[in-house]
Amino acid sequence: MTRTTACKRSQNDDETNGAKRQKITVNVPRRSSNRITRLSTSKMLDDEQIVNAIVSSMGSKLSEKKVLSEKTKINSSANQQNICSKELLSDFELARTSLHVKTVPKHLPCRENEHFDLLRLIESNITSKEGSCIYISGVPGTGKTATVKHVIRELLETPAVKNFDFYEINGMKLSDPTSAFSNLSRMIFKKKFSISQSIDKLEKKFTNNKKNKHTVILVDELDLLVTKNQKVIYNFFDWPSRKNSNLTVIAIANTMDLPERVLLNRVASRLGLTRINFTPYDYNQLIRIVEARLEQIPNAFDADSILYCAKKVSAVSGDARKALDICRRAVEILQSKILQDESPTEVITFEIMQEAVKELFSTSALQFLMCS
Ligand SMILES: Nc1ncnc2c1ncn2[C@@H]1O[C@H](COP(=O)(O)OP(=O)(O)O)[C@@H](O)[C@H]1O
Ligand SMILES: [Mg+2]
Repeated sequence: MTRTTACKRSQNDDETNGAKRQKITVNVPRRSSNRITRLSTSKMLDDEQIVNAIVSSMGSKLSEKKVLSEKTKINSSANQQNICSKELLSDFELARTSLHVKTVPKHLPCRENEHFDLLRLIESNITSKEGSCIYISGVPGTGKTATVKHVIRELLETPAVKNFDFYEINGMKLSDPTSAFSNLSRMIFKKKFSISQSIDKLEKKFTNNKKNKHTVILVDELDLLVTKNQKVIYNFFDWPSRKNSNLTVIAIANTMDLPERVLLNRVASRLGLTRINFTPYDYNQLIRIVEARLEQIPNAFDADSILYCAKKVSAVSGDARKALDICRRAVEILQSKILQDESPTEVITFEIMQEAVKELFSTSALQFLMCS
């Protein structure tokens, strides 16, 4: 983090030499290794204004040479203050962007094993033209969707296996569960069909399909595709087990036992799902996830602030989304304190993190109460 100069401006009426003058003080920078003692970013100073005001206040006492040297000195101090403020603010912007859940890191820490297993399973299906359904479970925010997307991207970039079709259905984005069929058929056949026509078309496509390219379908938020007769879930699980389906279905759900709960046990076991469970992140993993996103701004947070956030989140849910949101909020709190000139520090401290945790936990408690 950039250390910055404290710069303060005060207006006094000073009747020296009979002239009414403005008095401006530029404080000497006080630096420490990790923090600053005072920071004024609330009003960006206009260098020209400061220099002219100071020089005019001294003007009558200074020689031309002295005026020039004073101008240079003051200019560099004012410039330094402005540059530092801008850098500091852009460091915070960088932190906020890096911590945003929508920022997809190149690598997902703590999900290396799941990534590896999933990659091998899909790769083997593609190369052998086999079919299977991979059932991924885990509570929200454990990196299920992000890991699948990383794996698919990696496969699409691998010359030996990239020749497959990939489609994605998300239960959250459908108006009703059965529209999953028409959505999928429209993506595959580039034509609109009714729900029953879609089911026929898809069944035909995924039977004796070995001559064609392998198909991978991601069905995310599967929990929302539950219906009375379970037609949607059943079909997505059943198609890969058809003869020469040449189809991989990756189904993501929040609960481990959804297949057993919604289908008859014997049906669920016949489908031979391959399962991968994403366990909630513990606090050490949450620390690694947050820190990996702050690589470019390693001093933005005090270590004990991240530890506090990670411990709080892991005790409740182990949800990386929550941990990232809290850390982002902590940056916002500090930014706003600095802008109001109320912060004695430029790093996110334990106290600021406490504030962010309190705020975000009370929001989710409120949401929980309103939804229940
Ligand atoms: N291992 C990880 N490393 C970095 N970021 C992660 C990791 N796991 C989750 N995230 C972040 O949390 C967000 C939520 O993850 P996501 O995969 O959507 O969770 P899920 O699908 O399990 O609900 C992701 O967008 C990503 O930003
Ligand atoms: Mg998800």
